[in-house]
Amino acid sequence: MQALHWRERIFALRREILSERTFSIIKPDAVRKGHTAAILAQIEEAGFKIVAIKRTSISKVQAEGFYAVHAGKPFFAGLTEFMSSGPIFPMVLEKENAIADLRKLMGATNPAQAEEGTIRWKYAESIGENAIHGSDGEETATFEIGYFFAGIELK
Ligand code: CMP
Repeated sequence: MQALHWRERIFALRREILSERTFSIIKPDAVRKGHTAAILAQIEEAGFKIVAIKRTSISKVQAEGFYAVHAGKPFFAGLTEFMSSGPIFPMVLEKENAIADLRKLMGATNPAQAEEGTIRWKYAESIGENAIHGSDGEETATFEIGYFFAGIELK
């Protein structure tokens, strides 16, 4: 095998040092409507590496655990009911600046305010049924990745 040119090695090292992981879920509304592949394509085209992904579903209690920071808010019951209403695709994504860049790519929580071309602008129905979730910070990303994936699945 030909040795990597030094410039390519530096770029690879830079990618490794700067890369960040975030957590995302394709929500039940988007899965039901058949938008999974289109959303994944948009994520990959934006430069994210899909480190781990699976199709699964969660119970209401599991959704309550995942969204515990929102417990007590008026939308909590509806949110956890909806998130446990059908299959979802939780995933771990990686790139430089992954947390902030995924949130930009998703668009505003309320699709009525989402920028044109964003995932929620294209596929979300409402603030509750908004197609995709993305971690809002480093600590949240660590908690959320660990909620759905074991270390052995994250290589
Ligand atoms: P998500 O990024 O998954 O994080 C919390 C979710 O709560 C959010 O997306 C919305 O889908 C949902 N939600 C429902 N109602 C509201 C609301 N009024 N304000 C904020 N989030 C809401």
